[in-house]
Amino acid sequence: MNDQQLLDLIGQMTREDKIAQLLQLTGAFYEGFHDKELLTGPMEELGVNEAMVNASGSALNLSGARTITEVQQTYLKKNRLGIPLLFMADVVHGFKTIFPIPLAIGCSWNLPLAEKSAEIAARESAVSGIHVTFAPMVDLVRDPRWGRVMESTGEDPHLNSLFARAFVRGYQGDDLKGDKERLASCVKHFAAYGAPEGGREYNTVDMSERNLREYYLPAYKAAIEEGCALVMASFNTVDGIPASGNEKLMRGILRGEWGYDGVVISDWASIREMIAHGVCEDDREAALKAIRAGIDIEMMTPCYVHHLPELLAGGEVDEKLIDEAVLRILQLKEKLGLFENPLRGADPEREREVILCDDHREAAYELAAESCVLLKNNGSLPLSPNAKVALVGPYAESNDILGWWSCAGDKEDAVSLAAALRERMDSSRLTTAGCGIESISSSERDAMFAAASDADVLVVAFGEDVAMSGEGASRTNLQLPKAQLELLQQLAATGKPIAVVLFNGRPLDLTGVFEEADAVLEAWFPGVEGGAAIADLLLGRVNPSGRLSMSFPHSVGQVPVHYNKFNTGRPLTPGHEDERYISKYIDSPNEPLLPFGFGLSYTEFEYGELEISGAKLSRNESLTVQVKVTNTGLRSGIETVQLYIRDLAGEVVRPLRELKDFVRLALKPGETGTAIFTLTEQQLRYHHSDLSFTSDSGAFRVYVGSNSRDTREAGFQLVP
Ligand code: GLC
Repeated sequence: MNDQQLLDLIGQMTREDKIAQLLQLTGAFYEGFHDKELLTGPMEELGVNEAMVNASGSALNLSGARTITEVQQTYLKKNRLGIPLLFMADVVHGFKTIFPIPLAIGCSWNLPLAEKSAEIAARESAVSGIHVTFAPMVDLVRDPRWGRVMESTGEDPHLNSLFARAFVRGYQGDDLKGDKERLASCVKHFAAYGAPEGGREYNTVDMSERNLREYYLPAYKAAIEEGCALVMASFNTVDGIPASGNEKLMRGILRGEWGYDGVVISDWASIREMIAHGVCEDDREAALKAIRAGIDIEMMTPCYVHHLPELLAGGEVDEKLIDEAVLRILQLKEKLGLFENPLRGADPEREREVILCDDHREAAYELAAESCVLLKNNGSLPLSPNAKVALVGPYAESNDILGWWSCAGDKEDAVSLAAALRERMDSSRLTTAGCGIESISSSERDAMFAAASDADVLVVAFGEDVAMSGEGASRTNLQLPKAQLELLQQLAATGKPIAVVLFNGRPLDLTGVFEEADAVLEAWFPGVEGGAAIADLLLGRVNPSGRLSMSFPHSVGQVPVHYNKFNTGRPLTPGHEDERYISKYIDSPNEPLLPFGFGLSYTEFEYGELEISGAKLSRNESLTVQVKVTNTGLRSGIETVQLYIRDLAGEVVRPLRELKDFVRLALKPGETGTAIFTLTEQQLRYHHSDLSFTSDSGAFRVYVGSNSRDTREAGFQLVP
């Protein structure tokens, strides 16, 4: 249907029909709807009645081809105008084939593979009846105390923007209507949900508009420029006003400046939560502020359904606002082809074919292998082919490695590290013994030491519990559970080489681990093929290539610690550590333990001198920056060559480093590759104090290297 036909359809809708289109309920209201008690109790309090359910616009977190087919067919019989229901779900890093958590994917720096993972997630979800995914989550994160850093691709606006585009392309493809095995994507959480004070979940976000625009908004904008079909409002305040009622953010920036004309959906109950925030007296005022801000769909609370009729009748809300919201929702349904085919991709036969198929598992394996980051290695890895290995620790045998947002994923489908090593090693050379994550029994300890006593090398699989990250899981202590730290100390006393593998959803404080271990491999929550990927990395069949997309602090006391920091007026410069009156701590270094972009390999890469094509860059030309990189080791490997800049004299303070580009070079032993970059004036632009987005003529530095700290540099001038 074209827009005129949609407007004609709206013309047939009663006010109740229109307002009900703005309501989103969980799938249980539809699936279990036949038994009436669902509409009693809490739901009765919510005032959700049968008429509402029959006219509501969308459902969340329901899936399964047969289930969706039955619900849609039942619903259409009851919906007066036959407007199909929209099905949405949190397909964040996979549907059934679960990929590594997004923070891990961010460490892969592999954009095509990230795009492929989103495409696979879309195919598996679409054949299971889902139309929209609440992804990508592109919130920039600098504070590992926040549990949802696991859901982000990290601390850099440029890298996050590239991943945002890749995920949107993967989910949506380029023909949402024609390719019914794709999903409409919903970028979240708009905006700046990743910057809560204290890293505390749902806490206040407060920053300058300039900081918001410079660091936190770019990735949402990139997703929208890539055609993302929906935007989700965040729980948090933005400059004192919750996003769900923030007209400046939603109508001013999102729709006004960026020209976004798609659907905006609230987060779960985020409209009603404006009462708790203290900016609304009641549901009625929450409904008023949200509809004025341009929130189209209310997730899981009925402020709209209850109060828009009276607000319309009283003239406080113009029906035009409702009609606009309804039109955007109907346009989305049209974009998905639901009017012609309300069942879209739901297909039990295809479900059996594609879900967890070998190709999908292979992609999950590849992404897991490229998302792991080798943080330390004194030569203990890769494991010697003749070594007797003891694999111990809470994640030795565990398949609970999918991460918090694992959608319809089932840990029973996941390969544990022990199972994977057993497939790859002679049983005489491998003994395994697991234990608890937060407590270790004496029998577990005995079994682990028995395994260790007979081994040449210990692989210790440590980590957080899956529930220690994700939504509602902020931590003030970033260390591993105490029991694991004590175990490591006891294992270190054996004097045997120790390789630690980490399963976690955030950068950790590795005190008591990093020094004690001979090698540390960061595996994050690696998804359904994580065990296999880690096993191949440990055995050297795969060479680690991951690079950190979020800094690892020495301790939580340093947080937030991120690479693109400012110099201050009294920087700590090498050799002046003992000075008092400089920007430093008296009990900690300023630098993180491991910087953004960091990652080791089993081979070595040698960088040649940085070559720059000129000392002056004019606004309509470009400079070429290049550096030769040689693989001087004995193994093939992938080196992610990173390019950063620094503006030496901005109108406002400018970061010491800003990532502007990177090249991944696959090099065989002895092979030399050249990383070639093109630098333009556009890449030097930033938000000035008046919020203008422009560049300054003057002196710049360009840095190229293997991470944000270890670089070669050159200077150039931007000239008018
Ligand atoms: C949650 C999350 C959001 C998710 C939504 C629906 O509270 O904040 O990311 O998409 O509710 O599950």
